Amino acid sequence: MDSGVGGLSVLAEIQRLLPNESLLYVADSGHVPYGEKSPDYIRQRLRHIAEFFQQQGAKAMVLACNTATVAAVADLRERYPQWPLVGMEPAVKPAAAATRSGVVGVLATTGTLQSAKFAALLDRFASDVRVITQPCPGLVERIEAGDLASAHLRQLLAGYVQPLLAAGCDTVILGCTHYPFLRPLLAEMVPADVAIIDTGAAVARQLQRLLAERGLLAQGPARESAFWTSADPENLRIILPLLWKKSDSVQSFAV
Ligand code: DGL
Repeated sequence: MDSGVGGLSVLAEIQRLLPNESLLYVADSGHVPYGEKSPDYIRQRLRHIAEFFQQQGAKAMVLACNTATVAAVADLRERYPQWPLVGMEPAVKPAAAATRSGVVGVLATTGTLQSAKFAALLDRFASDVRVITQPCPGLVERIEAGDLASAHLRQLLAGYVQPLLAAGCDTVILGCTHYPFLRPLLAEMVPADVAIIDTGAAVARQLQRLLAERGLLAQGPARESAFWTSADPENLRIILPLLWKKSDSVQSFAV
């Protein structure tokens, strides 16, 4: 799940690593962006979505959303102690290990950057580096609208990236699952030696570990991936081919 289409960047990594698994995806686009909503609101949404996945018989759930993870993963773990749940967090640890300039930038939502979970992540892994955080309101809405390259988006993104470069960041963390879709645009804006990192592949590996530990890995073949959205299914049908591939399986998710 994700608040919208951002989690498709994680879904792609999961499908690459685990091609035998049948994938169900909920885009909560009727409630996007999560980044500016209260943790309580997000927890309610996640309870609703988790229940839906349970009803669908999902053997594991991935919160392919940093903002949902900081707000709700602890609550879900308490409710479903036996269910493999994978959350996301910005790649602070690998970035702190990789930076040469000692300055790391984080692009993420306001909700993620303001959370206690993110503060704890910095305490744990980033005590030796300078971390510049940059909330990016507006980016998620552009991507949800299928805009990956307009002049307006370019300007918005440049405004968020410039302060990081000015501060000397040589490593930029994409701390929101929507942002990997902006990699091509970002790559045009930062010098070639600035590393841009996200955690989609690491999350896929964590899912693989959890499933393997429990003997739950599928032997295949996978069913066609199925998609639900809490916004108008027609919107998702239009955007899916841009971010994923064409799919006939888009249904309405009861709001
Ligand atoms: N894709 C989400 C994340 O990883 C959040 C986007 C939003 O709804 O604000 O944080």
